[in-house]
This record gives sequence, C-alpha cells and structure tokens, in this order.
Amino acid sequence: MVELIERKKRGEELAPEELRRIVSGYVAGDIPDYQVGAWLMAVCLRGMSDGETLALTRAIIESGETLEWDDLPRPPVDKHSTGGVGDKTTLVLIPLMAAAGLPFVKMSGRGLGHTGGTLDKLESIPGFSVDLDLPALREQVRRIGCAIVGQSRRLVPADGKLYALRDVTATVNAVPLIASSIMSKKLAAGAQAIVLDVKYGSGAFMESEEEARELARTMVAIGQGAGRKVRAVLSSMEEPLGIAVGNALEVREAIETLHGRGPDDLWALTVQLGAHILELAGVAASREEAQRTIERLRADGSAREKLRELVHSQGGDAGVVDDTGLLPAAPVVRPLPLEAEAPKWVARVDARAVADAALSLGAGRRRKDDVLDLSVGVLVLAKGGTRVEPGEPLAEIHAGSEAAADAAAGLLREAFSLSEERVERAPQSYEAVLG
Ligand code: URA
Repeated sequence: MVELIERKKRGEELAPEELRRIVSGYVAGDIPDYQVGAWLMAVCLRGMSDGETLALTRAIIESGETLEWDDLPRPPVDKHSTGGVGDKTTLVLIPLMAAAGLPFVKMSGRGLGHTGGTLDKLESIPGFSVDLDLPALREQVRRIGCAIVGQSRRLVPADGKLYALRDVTATVNAVPLIASSIMSKKLAAGAQAIVLDVKYGSGAFMESEEEARELARTMVAIGQGAGRKVRAVLSSMEEPLGIAVGNALEVREAIETLHGRGPDDLWALTVQLGAHILELAGVAASREEAQRTIERLRADGSAREKLRELVHSQGGDAGVVDDTGLLPAAPVVRPLPLEAEAPKWVARVDARAVADAALSLGAGRRRKDDVLDLSVGVLVLAKGGTRVEPGEPLAEIHAGSEAAADAAAGLLREAFSLSEERVERAPQSYEAVLG
C-alpha cells in the first residue's frame, strides 16, 4: 500500500488490479484508514485518468451485490441529481416515466446540510415507507413499474465506508471520487439508461459551471465505459428550483406540478430530463416527440394515476395526490414582506441562503442523526426578475413556532438581492453534455 500511495503521490496511474486491491483490502479491514486516507488525498491532488476512475467504480461495485432486472418488460431507467435546493424533480419525473412504460427503480438518499433528500420528502406523505426489501422492491416494480426506496446496504458497501473516510479527511470534493461514488450506485442498481442532472451554483455541490461540466463528463465516461446509455444535463442552482423548499411543501409542489399548476422552471427541467430518458431508452424517436409524450401523460392524468399507485403501494395515503391538505402543515405561516419605500426588482434569490433559512426551521439536517420537522420550510414567492411592491411578500415562512419564524426571517432576507432597476431573467437552458 505504501508503494501505491507513493505512486499516486507522483501522479502515476494505478492499474485496475491495484485499485481493486485497495478497495477490497479496505472493506475487509486489511488496510487501515490512515493509508487509504493518504491515497485519497493523493487522488485529490493528482487526479485520476478516465480509465482509473472507471476501474475504481468497478472495484466499488464489486464490493457488494448488483441488481439485474431481466424479468421486466423493458430495462429500467434512472436519473440522478447531484443535489440542490428545492429539487423535487424526481417526484414529478418518476410517475411520468412509469406512465410511459419505462420501469424506474429509484434508490434515493436523505438530505444532509443544505441539500434536501427525496426519502425525507416522501416520508411527509402519511404512511409512506421507503424501506422495501429486495423481494418487495422487485414485486412492486414488476406490478406498477416504479419504486422509490433507500439505498440497499447490500449494494456498494465500499462506497459507504470510503465516503465516511472522505468526510473526515477533507477528500470529499474530488471529481473522480464523487463520480465513482455516484456512478457505482447507479450501475449496481441495474439501470440501462441513466440521465444525470449536474447542478452548479451557490446551492449546488459544484459551485462553478466548469467543475460541474468536468463532473458530468467524468460520470458519462464511466457509464458509457460500463456499457450503459448515459447522458448529462447541466442546470443552474443559483436560485432554488421551483418555489418550495422544505419536505411536505416540496411534495405539495410536485403534486401541483403533475396537475399542471406548478412552477414553470420545475416543469421545464422535468420535461427536459424526461425527454432525454425517453430518447435514450429508445421509446421516442426525437426529443420533440418525447416532450409531446410527457405533456400528454400529464394532461391525460396517467402520471397522477401512477403516483397514486406508487404512494398506495408503499403504504402511503394516495389521497394526497388529489388533496395536498393531507400533508403535514406548520402551525405558523407568515409572509416576509418587502420593507422599502418604493417598488423593487428581485435580482436574484440565493439558493444557499434560502436553504440555510429552511435548515434553521428544522427542514434539513446539520448532522446525520438530526430529526426533521417535515412540515416546515420556505416558499420563495418572488424569484429573480420579479417586481415587488412595498409590503408585498418576497417569501412565506412555514415554521414550528413564532421564535423559529423570527430567526428564519433574518436569514431569509439575506437571500434576496434587490434592485431599483428592472431586472430581466432569461429562462434556464439545459444543455446535454454528452451521450
Ligand atoms: N454524492 C455521492 O453519492 N457521493 C459523493 O461522493 C458525493 C455526492
């Protein structure tokens, strides 16, 4: 191991067999934390070639089980977002894709820090369970074409162990390590067509577009190297996606979006990601045709019906799809008005600052074992490019108490950059990076 660390320190490429020895030796307990930590730091400083990154991903996958879905009518698809603020796209996308006949097996995570997690959001639906064992998962996907569950511990055990070590050795933020960690989970779960939503901006893991592009390129290279169809889209996370930030509020917004009453940016991103999936999976001849299919599946109610099936099958109250009043509601709901003498334009709403306000209300976790209040959060009522009159609300705070609302209001005001001059905001463009 000393020699392997030394060679990576000098910037050399390690062979697939050597990477396999590191990963399997670490999982078996034969290589100590301090040596793997030193190698991870060398990777951070020296990087990895695409071949090495693919070999590392394979070694991580080989540490556990992999899922095969030969018994399904079509190979399953998947989507991954690198995480953001107010990103509830998965909840809108899965019913649409399943309604289009594509099996969707989604293994999601929980929120940590300023980014939310799909599992937490779903648990705000009364009764919903994200814990299905593998036989139950298979049965459900065969029956209704989709499932959203927690990551199985039997898949990629090396990833959990390596991630915990990266967390305490300042080695999380390296493209080959992030890319292999994410792609190992996607590949082990068995999807054949995968669309990646790689976020950049203040609310994202990658602050700059260049870093996001490099991460996207690396993940696509891994997926294609493993024989899967993979495409990546870059999307801005300067402002929150949609309006709602906070678990039950985001579920409500996702449901409203499937009814055609949601925010435009959330729907536009969902349509783009979904159209790439339909095209990659070979069920649409062009992106335009795929977009028309998605619009139709929303308009004719089939996506909402699929969401009812999904919620019911996982123990939840499917009535929420038609009555979001069944979701938990915060006891204190209060506007955050514009305090000014004259009208203002909102230049920008900083995603990270909104996330910090939501975190202060208890919508997110600072530490892994924090308990969430699923009812609380923030609605951003005036995003960049909106004109606001004095006294009109910039946002709405949903809090557990008046004191919590006071504290969040202070943080939330910081999120808004205001301007005397008119501000135009162009709609986001979603660029397919590769694939
Ligand atoms: N998400 C992951 O799953 N792994 C990383 O390394 C970073 C983000």
